[in-house]
Amino acid sequence: MNKKASEEKGKVSRRDFIKTSAAVGMAAVLPGKERLFAAGSDRLRVGLIGCGGRGTGAAEDCVKSSENVEIVAMGDLFQDSLDRSLAELSREVDDKVSVTEDTSFVGFDAFEEVVACDVDMVILGTPPHFRPEHFKAAVEAGKHVFMEKPVAVDPVGIRSIIASSELAKQKGLAIVAGTQRRHQAHYLEIMRRIHRGDIGEIVGGQCYWNMGELWVKKRQPGWSDMEWQCRNWLYFTWLSGDHIVEQHVHNLDIINWAIGAHPIQAMGMGGREVRTGPEYGNIFDHFAIEYEYPNGVRVMSMCRQTAGCNNQVSERVVGAKGQTYTDGSNGFIEGQKAYKYEGESPNPYVQEHADLIASIREGKPLNEGKRIAESTMTAIMGRMSAYTGRALKWDWAMNASKLDLSPPKYEFGDLPVRPAAVPGKTKLE
Ligand SMILES: NC(=O)c1ccc[n+]([C@@H]2O[C@H](COP(=O)([O-])OP(=O)(O)OC[C@H]3O[C@@H](n4cnc5c(N)ncnc54)[C@H](O)[C@@H]3O)[C@@H](O)[C@H]2O)c1
Repeated sequence: MNKKASEEKGKVSRRDFIKTSAAVGMAAVLPGKERLFAAGSDRLRVGLIGCGGRGTGAAEDCVKSSENVEIVAMGDLFQDSLDRSLAELSREVDDKVSVTEDTSFVGFDAFEEVVACDVDMVILGTPPHFRPEHFKAAVEAGKHVFMEKPVAVDPVGIRSIIASSELAKQKGLAIVAGTQRRHQAHYLEIMRRIHRGDIGEIVGGQCYWNMGELWVKKRQPGWSDMEWQCRNWLYFTWLSGDHIVEQHVHNLDIINWAIGAHPIQAMGMGGREVRTGPEYGNIFDHFAIEYEYPNGVRVMSMCRQTAGCNNQVSERVVGAKGQTYTDGSNGFIEGQKAYKYEGESPNPYVQEHADLIASIREGKPLNEGKRIAESTMTAIMGRMSAYTGRALKWDWAMNASKLDLSPPKYEFGDLPVRPAAVPGKTKLE
């Protein structure tokens, strides 16, 4: 247990004490579960697990989205990340943060300590490898969850997410995933029109996440293998799932949403052409996958992280009577029922929290768990196909694959990097 509070237990600033006392007072009036489903004026106490760029952003979006929401506990693998995040939150939304030494935790077990705090909801913002375990702990403890995408890196993790989502449903807990396009006005309108038949029967589609390079963290003296990989997590398949899973899941999720199903088969290719140095771990830098959906519908998916090339992050859904185009800020339809979205565009990163919290307060909990598990599995299946060079069936990947990328133990120490996959040689697991 690597807990900051164990060093300075009981040291709480006067300001923190006043805030915490107020929060505890409020909680005491509204016991247990009643607080979770009572009127909209009730205070919602939130814990943040994984305090990096997105976790911190999600915490801000969460408290800004709705009245009477407060961040009361935080956990991260590293003290410096937690400190940076708390400083940012104190700067941006100070009156909505009452985290104390006693409610901030670091280490691999920090998630357990946050979940054990008096929180109603947790935000899960770590690298995706950790999501299934953290999600399970949160649901078992009866917490509502906002979890960033993707939600796993392998089929074993996906099966765990689906089981925890089912448990959340039984317990009446709300689950929202960080696929913000599902809460974005122009996507919602284009989907409404697709589903009412404006482009006719869907016959195919394309989706892309082609971009330049992202941040990379070179190894520092004194970092163990495990520390380096966790800090430079994008580039290790066991942590990120590779960029097809980490980023392209957004576009694949849109395709699954439009078609109303997950694919039944994937056949893909990819490689590691440009980013070949050790700082890029073992992931690929490009993928192209053909997904087959029910009724013979085929969708081409591409993703690339290479500087100096064409950029494209968008989706097209092709129907018998027209086609749609969507990207982060545009949505239109070409064909017999042409249309262009020109309405309001509320910030979807805030809207997803507003929708989640409203669903909790109205006692009608959203549960996006199975849906995001299937979209993440769509991306994982594409990666498995590209890594091995084999065509894959959904049923096999979802139900029979034993692929589990977990390290032997969660400890700062040696952790050799698995060699990058070689299509035609790497075996399906
Ligand atoms: N929805 C979106 O548009 C969007 C955008 C960016 C990132 N994301 C997702 O958010 C997640 C985090 O990405 P990020 O950009 O914030 O990365 P980041 O590296 O900035 O943050 C990750 C944080 O998790 C911490 N962490 C790592 N392992 C941990 C563990 N076992 N327990 C507790 N904390 C741990 C790290 O120390 C770090 O502070 C990823 O799943 C990513 O795909 C989503």
